[in-house]
Amino acid sequence: MTSSGRGNFGSRFAVVMALAGSAIGLGNIWRFPYMVGQYGGAAFILIYILCLVVIALPIFFAESIIGKSTGSDTFGAIEQIAPGTGWKNAGYIAIVASFVVLSFYSVVGGWSVDYLLRACTGGFRFSSGEEAAAVFSQMNSSAVEPILCLIVFLGLTAVIVSAGVDKGIGRFAKITMPLLFVMILLIVAKSLQLPGAQAGVDYMLKPDFSKISGKAIAAALGQAFFTLSLGVGTVLTYSSYMRKEENILYAGVWSAFFDTVFALLAGFAIMPAVFAFGLAPSAGPSLVFETLPVIFSQMGAAVPIIFFISILIAALTSSISMLEVVVAWLVDQKGLSRRAATIAVFVCALALGSACAISSRVFSACDFLTSNVLMMTGAFVFAIIVGWKMPKADVRTQFTNYGTSKAARATFPVVWFLIRWVVPVMIVAIAFTNLF
Ligand code: PHE
Repeated sequence: MTSSGRGNFGSRFAVVMALAGSAIGLGNIWRFPYMVGQYGGAAFILIYILCLVVIALPIFFAESIIGKSTGSDTFGAIEQIAPGTGWKNAGYIAIVASFVVLSFYSVVGGWSVDYLLRACTGGFRFSSGEEAAAVFSQMNSSAVEPILCLIVFLGLTAVIVSAGVDKGIGRFAKITMPLLFVMILLIVAKSLQLPGAQAGVDYMLKPDFSKISGKAIAAALGQAFFTLSLGVGTVLTYSSYMRKEENILYAGVWSAFFDTVFALLAGFAIMPAVFAFGLAPSAGPSLVFETLPVIFSQMGAAVPIIFFISILIAALTSSISMLEVVVAWLVDQKGLSRRAATIAVFVCALALGSACAISSRVFSACDFLTSNVLMMTGAFVFAIIVGWKMPKADVRTQFTNYGTSKAARATFPVVWFLIRWVVPVMIVAIAFTNLF
């Protein structure tokens, strides 16, 4: 039962753009291109797509089935499916995970606000990597600047969430996601024209199967998890706002498709330029805030502006989905108004975010805890709930949209097997590989 008082996404386009917006984020820009190059180019892309289809998408479907069938927040949804059991506490894991990701992710969102302002005001002239690195560390050496930018980023996130599911989240995603694709294509076009760009294309695409190790597979799986925003309740919460006629298979496949296309485009925007300028490929903050600024400052004034607007949009549509998980819980379970809930989470995330902005140890601890522990645990719980707690007939009804979706009817037996067996076993296996 979807309670109409909570609000709904008004169209299928809004649902897909919001879900793709959550998926497309910093993970696509600062992790994926580097991983591809590191772990065997096209060979890694193949493994990654396999992980996406066999493990990540089934988890997406599981979350979506829980959300859509209950029309409730993460905690309430689990309570409806397994009433009176301890399972609902698992809902708290996802809500806490979402909150923690929101806090440290917003710090990076804040940095992009800072760099966008620098790019707009002509402060973007770096002649060497050392110079760019010095600016980055100088920005972070004072607490004031990162925290001010964090306030701006979290504030923007809160304003959009507070405006409502369709009028805020849906509308923002519908406008900015197409724009994001146009902007990244512009940078790809510019980057591929640089002399020496081919080396970057080779770095991304040349298949090297000898680099496919257990570590590469674990990396592909971890990336597939993070990039589809799984295990923290964002897919569950957004799906709880789907109208009855929305199709879960369709939503999942399109989100994963746009997410993968964007990750590849980000690679083709970044790596050809990195190689053309004779720099070394890297990952994480140093790529976006140290390597790329050097390149951009030599590619004309518009390129860094377009790039940092892209990062900002990509990060915002993700942080919005994290905030919404916590807000939905406060609204549904604690009876707060959307506005009051948003303000409450804003204040708390600002506190933890400020700690992350000041201390890189707190930042790394939050990152490690969510990526390696909480997201995996959440995903495991969602798969068990759908695969082992919900009656199979109910799962089929939800997935096939009351039997109306032909494609979903045809794929259901495979999806059911993956959710019930493959996903839990693989998560446990990966947990062991990571721990020992
Ligand atoms: N998927 C986002 C990215 O790739 C990150 C994210 C994680 C968003 C968890 C929401 C929830 O950057």
